[in-house]
Amino acid sequence: MLPQEHTKNIIQNNMQNVNTIYNQIYHPLPLNNLNFLVTGGAGFIGSNLVEYLLHHQAGKVIVLDNYATGFASNLELFKNYKNLEIITGDICSIEDCRLACKNVDYVLHQAALGSVPRSVENPIATNMVNVDGFLNMLVAARDAKVKRFIYASSSSVYGDSKALPKEESKIGNPLSPYAVTKYLNELYANVFAKTYQMEITGLRYFNIFGPRQNPSGPYAAAIPLFMDAILSNKPAYINGDGEQTRDFTFVKNAVEANIKALFAPKMEGHPMVFNIAVSDRISINNLFHILKTIANSEAEPIHREVRPGDIRDSLADISSAAKYIGYSPQVKMEEGLKITMDWFKETFYNK
Ligand SMILES: NC(=O)c1ccc[n+]([C@@H]2O[C@H](COP(=O)([O-])OP(=O)(O)OC[C@H]3O[C@@H](n4cnc5c(N)ncnc54)[C@H](O)[C@@H]3O)[C@@H](O)[C@H]2O)c1
Repeated sequence: MLPQEHTKNIIQNNMQNVNTIYNQIYHPLPLNNLNFLVTGGAGFIGSNLVEYLLHHQAGKVIVLDNYATGFASNLELFKNYKNLEIITGDICSIEDCRLACKNVDYVLHQAALGSVPRSVENPIATNMVNVDGFLNMLVAARDAKVKRFIYASSSSVYGDSKALPKEESKIGNPLSPYAVTKYLNELYANVFAKTYQMEITGLRYFNIFGPRQNPSGPYAAAIPLFMDAILSNKPAYINGDGEQTRDFTFVKNAVEANIKALFAPKMEGHPMVFNIAVSDRISINNLFHILKTIANSEAEPIHREVRPGDIRDSLADISSAAKYIGYSPQVKMEEGLKITMDWFKETFYNK
């Protein structure tokens, strides 16, 4: 079967009802008496977490964001929720972190400067937010006695390790300043858990994509860039030969992981960091091909130089997340791409 026909079949046969995906419930307890802080809540993954919490009657949802890379428009949809409080502030300020953590039960820490190339160009800025800011949040959460602290780590921590699939305990040397910052987060998290008896879980995200991911700017990720290029007939660039592979993960799977990590039973000796992916990988060339098929486009990509700091292949072992937090990603990549493409069309091209 041609790859195009294969993709069409998968989309037609397996496309779940979008509402089912969006109404999945991942928490075992009612949320109405609980207060949640989502740092970076105006960003891509953060705003999807905010959406889940608000749609499932969380007591209060607090967002701390300085809009460095996030957008007020990502929270516009939720402006009528009385239990949403938005604090414009910086995690590099301990006062802002303390204010945001006040009376909070659970923290979902997403705020950071993402992007490997950004960190290669400006390692100091990335370090300040991702390391100093992270430490501020840990201290503020410790002092506010939050029940659990979940934070965003990254598959970049695997660095130059060639082993596939990636298992949490087997990492290589970091390949970028960004990867160093995410590894430092994990080291600090371990020390804070042991020293201050905090409950902390890190989630190593693998190439998350979905609605509200920013397609603009020099540090945009491949999927929103490709969608934007395909839908607006702009050139689409693939770094290198395009045969590098990634374990692309729809954002609702990342939301599931966060919520399940918040409420997973506490166990002694429980691992402190989990791979969050689908455990399936495709090449960038193949990804582009699937997107063309979904959009019914004839676009052809242009190949250019490999980016410094990029890894060649990525595929996650997600068995530990399944075992300890009950993570079971519901949305396969093709379904997620279709939902995301629909969102892009509606948001940017149907005005
Ligand atoms: N998207 C991915 O594929 C991916 C992969 C691995 C890890 N991550 C991590 O997941 C988290 C969320 O990523 P995202 O893709 O949603 O990125 P994003 O840029 O859309 O969101 C980050 C948010 O943090 C905010 N922020 C940045 N600096 C801040 C500061 N100093 N104070 C307060 N807020 C600040 C931004 O304004 C933005 O709203 C980040 O920690 C990122 O490193 C993302």
